[in-house]
Amino acid sequence: MASSGPRLSTLITWLLYFVPVYIFIVDPLVRSWAPEGTTRISWLTGTTAGPNADDGDVSEEFTPSTLHLTDDSFISPEDGVPAHCPGEADGYRVHLLSRVPLVLYVEKFVSDQEADHLIKVSLDKYSPSIIYDGVSERVDPSKRLSDRALLDRDDTVRCLEERARAFQGWRPHLYIERMWAQRYNASGHYRHHYDWTGSLARGGDRLSTFMVYLGADCEGGGTHFPRLARPEGQQWCRFLDCEEEVGITFRPLKGNAIFWENLGPDGLGYPETWHAAYPVKSGTKVGLNIWSWYQPPLRKRRGRL
Ligand SMILES: *[C@@H]1O[C@H](CO)[C@@H](O)[C@H](O)[C@H]1NC(C)=O
Repeated sequence: MASSGPRLSTLITWLLYFVPVYIFIVDPLVRSWAPEGTTRISWLTGTTAGPNADDGDVSEEFTPSTLHLTDDSFISPEDGVPAHCPGEADGYRVHLLSRVPLVLYVEKFVSDQEADHLIKVSLDKYSPSIIYDGVSERVDPSKRLSDRALLDRDDTVRCLEERARAFQGWRPHLYIERMWAQRYNASGHYRHHYDWTGSLARGGDRLSTFMVYLGADCEGGGTHFPRLARPEGQQWCRFLDCEEEVGITFRPLKGNAIFWENLGPDGLGYPETWHAAYPVKSGTKVGLNIWSWYQPPLRKRRGRL
């Protein structure tokens, strides 16, 4: 046909334009979205590529006793003390809400007995919650109004540490932060924030969060994720406030937990994990945070041994 000639030459002309455009514009743009200098997480080998992964001579393991985030007032080292867990432990049900980032809803992550026990032992330990702005810690009721209590590592807490660890598949270089109960009275809240700081390249960061509701005798107080899409299906309305118009809001339900991963395999924080505790309108909400840190082994640089 007469028209096939011009069409073929048009195609070739386009290709000739496309190749340099791809090489000089598209490819550099794509690369700039995945910035160099990020720390990739490799679970299988437990090694880390990136700025820390110099071809150093010696690989020095970070150990819980040698690091900033690892004094045992901050994390819960695996010290071999057995956890005596009650029979009904681990009777939870998991519902997948999002694959990337991974968000799971965990029904009955703690039993009523465990929740009541933790509420009771926290009672005389509360002090105002602080925020960390990357430099210092301070109390700022406009951003966060609640009280928090550091929990002793009794049997129940140790049991939960084990549950949280096993839930994540025994990943290497994972450290469970000491657990805090968080109490929200009427008007208590926590503005939108991330649990990660983006500091993995400098040492460690919060890989994952369990947000557990220990006590939910309250109105309001939902946990809001404006950047997550509501999953299909009316059955989710048991756990979610299906009236929410922006993103999703979890209803506080005693014993249940939200689990999410804060960091992707590239070591960068997920923007979708931006979340808030909506103000409690009446009553009291008690939450429990279980944060798992990922801290890759430090490789010493050549010449600095
Ligand atoms: C919450 O209520 C308790 C008990 O009444 C009180 O001691 C505490 O100061 C209150 N906390 C806040 C942040 O209002």
